[in-house]
Amino acid sequence: MSKNIIVTGGAGYIGSHTVVELVKFGFNPIIIDNFSNSSSSAIENIEKICKKKIDFFDLNCIDKLKMNNSINWKKIDGIIHFAALKSVSESFEKKEKYFTNNIESTKILLNICEVYNIKKFVFSSSCTVYGNPNNLPVTEKTELKKPSSPYGETKKICEEMIKTSQIKNFIILRYFNPIGAHESALIGEHPLNIPNNLVPLICECAIGKREKLTIYGNDYPTRDGTCIRDYIHVCDVAQAHVYAFKKMNTKTTRKIFNIGLSKGISVLELINLFEKNNNIKINYEFGKRREGDIEEIFANCSLAEKELNWSPKKTIQKALIDAWRWEQKKLN
Ligand code: UD1
Repeated sequence: MSKNIIVTGGAGYIGSHTVVELVKFGFNPIIIDNFSNSSSSAIENIEKICKKKIDFFDLNCIDKLKMNNSINWKKIDGIIHFAALKSVSESFEKKEKYFTNNIESTKILLNICEVYNIKKFVFSSSCTVYGNPNNLPVTEKTELKKPSSPYGETKKICEEMIKTSQIKNFIILRYFNPIGAHESALIGEHPLNIPNNLVPLICECAIGKREKLTIYGNDYPTRDGTCIRDYIHVCDVAQAHVYAFKKMNTKTTRKIFNIGLSKGISVLELINLFEKNNNIKINYEFGKRREGDIEEIFANCSLAEKELNWSPKKTIQKALIDAWRWEQKKLN
């Protein structure tokens, strides 16, 4: 059996950590990335961690012709599709761009699977498809509400396309909030523009790049008034993809799984944990609520534990220590 796995967006945040895990478990990942929100140095650093050359193609997934012609698809066993635009705020301003890019790329890849008889597909989705849930924790059976952003809509549409496709096996992973970095501090979250997500912003405050963090709202009906999320170490998220392939290698699978730590933590609690574990103070203020934010969401991941045999191994504390080490190393 061939173990060649195409990883689109493999130089990006979750993609790069997944490539490392795939190598660790004996797979041969091949990266496709156009470096629109990542840098090629991520690939050099993946190679340092893995002590191995990694094949990569500088390609845009929506370039159908090049996608078809550049790769010997007959030798590919499966695809993990990460490559997507992911800024919630930008997706409101550039809705068209988000729809074209995220949906078209998935369509092209599903077509490639059909033409070249590739039987395994893993899709990178998000808990954003649950919208504002009525009941917590959310399971895979929780009703999908209207996503609060065009970005979220693209994820929901792609999920639908995959479910109705002819592909023999697919696994859709709905990530909650991946944070942290590889413990070597060689790879991590490295947005080319201003970060949108909480932990990179906390790190920028810690290092002095940013004067203070604005907490978006402290008047939510939660235990301390700030929003609650399910933060999970990015390496645990990355491992879930390996387990997804193991599952599809043994049994026909067309399923969706939540991937989180199954714990709800508030913004304030997360900041406190960062301060305590890294011994550094974060300057913050309370600001207005952010449009589209959901007050509270966290996962029930028992399905992934049972059926993928996956469970998270790392704590939030460890994720925050690794995030801070990465932030400091990134500057050098
Ligand atoms: C966001 C997206 C989600 C996407 C994910 C990708 C929304 C509504 N959801 O998740 O669809 O999959 O990013 O990584 O945007 N916060 C602050 N101050 C800041 C930044 C964030 O208080 O400067 C708070 C937010 O209000 C939120 C929490 O921190 O409560 C986490 O925010 P963020 O890291 O942006 O993730 P999500 O909003 O959960």
